[in-house]
Amino acid sequence: MHSEKQLSTKIDANVPTAARMYDHYLGGKDNYAADRAACEQLDKVVPSTRRLAVNNRRFLQRVVRTLTQEYGIRQFLDHGSGLPTQDNVHQVAQSVDPAAHVVYVDNDPMVLVHGRALLEQDERTTVIHADMRETDAIFSHPETQRLIDFDQPVAVLFNSVFHCIPDSETDGPSAVVKRVSERLAPGSYLLMCQLVSEDAEVREFVTNFMDQATHGHWGRVRQEKDVAALFDGLEILEPGLVEVSTWRPDSEVAPRQLTQEWIEFGGVGRLP
Ligand SMILES: C[S@@+](CC[C@H](N)C(=O)[O-])C[C@H]1O[C@@H](n2cnc3c(N)ncnc32)[C@H](O)[C@@H]1O
Repeated sequence: MHSEKQLSTKIDANVPTAARMYDHYLGGKDNYAADRAACEQLDKVVPSTRRLAVNNRRFLQRVVRTLTQEYGIRQFLDHGSGLPTQDNVHQVAQSVDPAAHVVYVDNDPMVLVHGRALLEQDERTTVIHADMRETDAIFSHPETQRLIDFDQPVAVLFNSVFHCIPDSETDGPSAVVKRVSERLAPGSYLLMCQLVSEDAEVREFVTNFMDQATHGHWGRVRQEKDVAALFDGLEILEPGLVEVSTWRPDSEVAPRQLTQEWIEFGGVGRLP
């Protein structure tokens, strides 16, 4: 278990990573041939993944805008933030209020390099190189302490990340959510979504494929009921737990996936 969580500081262009594959699907340039080849293989089984990724990113942006604009949130802790792209969390939040604070956490060394370059001038935003399961280290990190006041409500984001970690009583998604929730002020929000499929063959194929492709840096495609269980005890915001492109869409012509072998499923919960 421990070795799984050792942070790699080296960028290996030959082993695909979730961050770089996702970047490729979003049309980014921070990825290598191995990442693109893995996406091509994946597309043979789950052909709507590019659309899924784009919809997932838009969902994240809508949630951040909604929480800043309508729910008064000014601090965000983003677990598994990914490579910077357009309209990153801090840009969306700070477009509503320039005083919003954001802490990004990711274990991919490339995210750290690109994130730091982007954030050099921004004193209200930082990126931490950490495993999202290391709650103590993340919460006590000097940069987190500098930017987040945990006596006030925070939005904690787990957007499209739980499928990257396996089940475990101490370090699986539900253990992490419990640990994090215990540290948050009432009125804080949790955004949680992950890749799910109700088709057992798809779940098995993709889980095995990604596990091999990433050399074990992967978790599990789960089911909608597994995501729903993470929201136990939280007040779930409207419209509930859904395929994420249908969460408060900001356009009537929002594109949907043409096929639904797997989807991003989740929503936003409030700590009572
Ligand atoms: C699919 S991307 C999602 C990025 C972003 N949250 C979004 O939704 O646009 C998954 C991200 O989680 C990161 N990740 C995977 N496992 C992680 C872990 N154990 N700790 C921290 N970050 C992790 C990957 O490096 C990648 O950047």
